[in-house]
Amino acid sequence: MSDIRFDDRVAVITGAGGGLGRTYALDLAGRGAKVVVNDLGGATDGTGGATSAADQVVKEIEAAGGTAVANYDSVSTPEGGEAIIQTALDNFGKADIVINNAGILRDKSFAKLSDADLGAVLDVHLKGAFYVSQPAFRVMKDNGYGRFLFTASAAGVFGNFGQSNYGAAKMGLVGLMNVLAVEGARSGIQANTIMPIANTRLTQDLLGPIAEKLAPETVTPLVTYLVSEQCELTHELFSVGGGRYARVFVGLTKGWNAGPEASVSAEDIGSNLDQIRNQDGYIVPSSIADEMKLIAEGLNG
Ligand code: NAI
Repeated sequence: MSDIRFDDRVAVITGAGGGLGRTYALDLAGRGAKVVVNDLGGATDGTGGATSAADQVVKEIEAAGGTAVANYDSVSTPEGGEAIIQTALDNFGKADIVINNAGILRDKSFAKLSDADLGAVLDVHLKGAFYVSQPAFRVMKDNGYGRFLFTASAAGVFGNFGQSNYGAAKMGLVGLMNVLAVEGARSGIQANTIMPIANTRLTQDLLGPIAEKLAPETVTPLVTYLVSEQCELTHELFSVGGGRYARVFVGLTKGWNAGPEASVSAEDIGSNLDQIRNQDGYIVPSSIADEMKLIAEGLNG
């Protein structure tokens, strides 16, 4: 494959002052992108804030000959999201790429989860992605080009103890990606999502002995590819970490088709579970239209 370059492209990366986001910023800038390094600079639970994290990454990029500007706004408010994209417009004139990466943790078992811990996590991960992506989407639509990258997590897509707030927020991002991929298709806007596993400050106490094999840099190449011009994929979800790259998808089985006239009882559902759940011949719908097609086929016998 030819070299992947980002000359004349402008990338906004949230939470790029450390961890995974920093590696994306360094790689994209090294390939010619002009980068907005956004980071609130707070603690892993979202409290506090400092300019040093974003400033340090901008310094690293500049030292390597790249172009970057820092932004310290929180993604978690509409004003913050607007200001982050405005930083790209003021400094570089556009926003071609948005990597929604900023994140915090407030892990609690479901029975003990407080409203504050639910709100903080939804605000940063889920609403934050709306607040940053919406002003960028408008700019991308006008320019006829855009690349969104969302950061989900296996905690939401597959499930994990003690992460109901985080898991729900992360799975919500898959829904947002699905809709942006459909809405953006006509305007050259693509949206994809990763579920990373990497040794960062968020996970340093969780990964155990395999942590040293899960360098954030093993996630970076997939992200760089997905936000590149060469990437033609949209609407897709990937599991990535430790040098393993794999697609994750939501499939729809052929199901059991009783027909619209049948009088189906709850007992009939129980009796036909094998057919309802049979994975032979499943499809991966690219929008609600694919599901409707199957339903219409069933209606027509
Ligand atoms: P990290 O803590 O090193 O990076 C997250 C960055 O986001 C921090 O620099 C933090 O200051 C920034 N941030 C937090 N709240 C912010 C806000 N309101 N506005 C702007 N910036 C904010 O952690 P890591 O691991 O690099 O996380 C990156 C993303 O990857 C997160 O969304 C996380 O949930 C996700 N993720 C990470 C996994 C891992 O194994 N490290 C697993 C699954 C998902």
